[in-house]
Amino acid sequence: MAKKASELNVDLVFVAPDDPLSWGLVDRLQTEGMAAFGPSKAAARLEASKAWAKEFMRRHNIPHPHAATFDEVEAARDYVRSARTQLVVKADGLAAGKGAIVTASMEEALDAVDQLMVQGAAGDSGKRVVIEERIGPREVSGHAFSDGRTVIPMPLSCDHKTVFDNNEGPNTGGMGVYSPPWWAAPDLPDTILETIIQPAVEGMAEEGTPFKGVVYPGIMVTERGPQVFEFNARLGDPETQALLMRLDSDLLDIVEACVNGRLHETNVHWSDRPSVCVVIASSGYPGEYRTGLPISGLENVDRDVQVFHAGTRTAEDGRIVTAGGRVLGVTATGATLAEARDKAYANVARIHFEGMHYRRDIGLQSS
Ligand SMILES: Nc1ncnc2c1ncn2[C@@H]1O[C@H](COP(=O)(O)OP(=O)(O)O)[C@@H](O)[C@H]1O
Ligand SMILES: [Mg+2]
Repeated sequence: MAKKASELNVDLVFVAPDDPLSWGLVDRLQTEGMAAFGPSKAAARLEASKAWAKEFMRRHNIPHPHAATFDEVEAARDYVRSARTQLVVKADGLAAGKGAIVTASMEEALDAVDQLMVQGAAGDSGKRVVIEERIGPREVSGHAFSDGRTVIPMPLSCDHKTVFDNNEGPNTGGMGVYSPPWWAAPDLPDTILETIIQPAVEGMAEEGTPFKGVVYPGIMVTERGPQVFEFNARLGDPETQALLMRLDSDLLDIVEACVNGRLHETNVHWSDRPSVCVVIASSGYPGEYRTGLPISGLENVDRDVQVFHAGTRTAEDGRIVTAGGRVLGVTATGATLAEARDKAYANVARIHFEGMHYRRDIGLQSS
């Protein structure tokens, strides 16, 4: 990939997904003399190892749920048997969204340990597991740009993880997002910035692995305040769709400022208008689904609504067809969250493909 970028005379590479960040693509591009946006391999550990991230949070007093790491299945089982709270069992490494199992009983938690450590449900990523206290109830995604020292936060946003309305069914990569959270106390963004994002970026710099790129903590708002259940080292999907609709500044200027360590000189403006992104998925997702189904109605979408293509391709006859589980992200803004939601859904209704599925309650549930 680095070789290709150099052949193409690329000026700047925005490394967006978790896998190449964890392999060290940013370091590689920089060695080849190219500008790259994203954390180094060392900094991307914040996402690539949940066990490492927990230790890092402990070192820097970043609020997080009680957690323990295990390499031995018997020790993990003993821990589950003696726990007094509900637990979440997670693969240590990257697992394409399939490595975290939220449980409600000891039996379920023992089964989750088995799935990850014995049956290998998340492959090698699950050989080591992190078992943590289940916290909640409200989930929020915090995102911020960082050049390694300066931090500029983005608005807060909320993803809906489960496939069906009322937060039912299995978890997905995300079925829709709204921003900002209507339920949040006015000081929540500042609290998250001061207790989570700034200490994380300062901590990474202190440890000699400055974090450049987008840092994105997954947060539960609890009675004890906001707590981090994971760090991501990149933009979230579909959070980005809702966030970029609210960005009034030029993204490239911000990215270049991060790469050049000049974020302190950059002004970033966000729109006050709330946004909503509704994901349209294939029938059967997150399980098995068909692809190649023609999509109609895209030409009827309002000009101020963005339809982000996630799983589509152009067929030989020129028609746009489905090519993935999550197919489209229909994203609108409005004077109020209700207006943004109405506009997004009015446009979803103009789009059609066989078996298409979407949640009807994006922005109504807290997350
Ligand atoms: N400690 C926790 N308590 C309650 N729910 C959790 C906890 N940790 C994770 N979750 C839920 O599980 C989802 C996936 O967990 P996460 O740590 O983000 O793993 P990944 O994104 O790698 O699959 C989260 O979005 C959240 O809804
Ligand atoms: Mg996550």
